[in-house]
Amino acid sequence: MKYNAKILSTDNVLLKNVGNIDPLKIDEYIANGGYEALKKAVTMDRKAIIDSVSDSGLRGRGGANFPTGRKWLFTYNATADQKYLIINADEGEPGTVKDRILMEGDPHQIIEGMVIAAYAIGATKGFIYIRGEYNDSIKTMNAAIKQAEEKGMLGKNILGSGFDFEMRVAMGGGAYICGEETALIDSIEGKRGEPRLKPPYPPVEGLFKKPTIVNNVETIANVPHIIAKGSEWFRSLGASCSPGTKLFMLCGDINEPGIVETPIDLSFEDVIEKFGKGANGGEIKFAQIGGSSGNIFTPEMLKKVWTYERCCEFKVSYGTGSIFVCNDSRSIVDHLLTVAEFFEHESCGKCTPCREGTHRVKQIIEDFAFGEGTVSDLEILKELCLIMKRSPICGLGQACVNPVLDAIEYFKGEILAN
Ligand SMILES: Cc1cc2nc3c(=O)[nH]c(=O)nc-3n(C[C@H](O)[C@H](O)[C@H](O)COP(=O)(O)O)c2cc1C
Ligand code: SF4
Repeated sequence: MKYNAKILSTDNVLLKNVGNIDPLKIDEYIANGGYEALKKAVTMDRKAIIDSVSDSGLRGRGGANFPTGRKWLFTYNATADQKYLIINADEGEPGTVKDRILMEGDPHQIIEGMVIAAYAIGATKGFIYIRGEYNDSIKTMNAAIKQAEEKGMLGKNILGSGFDFEMRVAMGGGAYICGEETALIDSIEGKRGEPRLKPPYPPVEGLFKKPTIVNNVETIANVPHIIAKGSEWFRSLGASCSPGTKLFMLCGDINEPGIVETPIDLSFEDVIEKFGKGANGGEIKFAQIGGSSGNIFTPEMLKKVWTYERCCEFKVSYGTGSIFVCNDSRSIVDHLLTVAEFFEHESCGKCTPCREGTHRVKQIIEDFAFGEGTVSDLEILKELCLIMKRSPICGLGQACVNPVLDAIEYFKGEILAN
């Protein structure tokens, strides 16, 4: 395996097979209990599968945390001659490698989850949309698809159930925005990947205007475990309001960078200390959680357990689960400039508040980086960020200002003194 991320946790569910089986040998997956959930699922009522996923409390792991069972129900209830299932493996978020590790380390777990989901919602065609630069993921998933077809787990009349499901790899378009689900759908349709205006939402009108479920890789990898062990088992993991495990990626100023699977019953400080062996180069100044558009967490905030409910209460998110640690030698202005340059580059340009806003946000932060920013510049920056939070048409423009607003709240003195 060529990905460069160390697995730091040992008591794993989704990462259990990773590094322990040959991902290119379906028989090793089967020998470890693989495809048992699918065997069970194809004997179940479709609605009962969706109920089980709903009862488990599984929420999407792609960043938005939408309840998976509820999303599936929209497509299940839709009447159409064709429904689709798409797995989002675009993984463009800086510091995020979890989907890659799952694809390259245990591809059949994803395929099994996909076939169960497709059966439940009534989709007969599906795609896994993989970031174009992930050559090894693409090769591994293609090989695993072929093996699953040969074993009767994919294709026509799966396991003699009469259910057909055909799936293919689609290669990502090479832009961060292609991870946004409607841009991704446009990209699969052969168009330039740009977000669509919503509603309609994909579960009702998605790929080729047909009902389409888009789920993240980590989300779908949970499905075989929920079906095999039951929703009660899943609920027993983690905090009652945030069941299951979550993959977190530790990076930045940390002694032991890598990936951790843990139920959401630990504080981020515990995750950093227990698995990452603490910050290096100094004390923790802040951590950015969930990628470049993620919130800035102060050391005090890192001490809390951030369940989904607590995140809602404090209007923060742990997004994809990357934990980027910055020690006290780091400049907040330099950090913000890196983030602002990223979003200026990645804004697709479709709507004005984001196209112009990301450019202007970067310019003002650049002024501070050159020691030329003023109090009134900071006020303008804050006002601009607040406008951007509510006016762009997709999550990129809305969320990219999160770290800037947090930094203004927690590090105003340092920004002005820069
Ligand atoms: C700019 C942008 C980029 C995104 N990139 C990804 C991505 O790379 N992978 C992903 O799963 N979701 C990404 N999302 C979220 C998807 O739009 C969608 O919510 C998700 O794939 C749904 O899956 P889930 O319900 O299983 O989380 C992105 C959203 C935005 C706004
Ligand atoms: S918010 Fe930004 S990325 Fe999203 S559609 Fe508008 S310009 Fe494109």
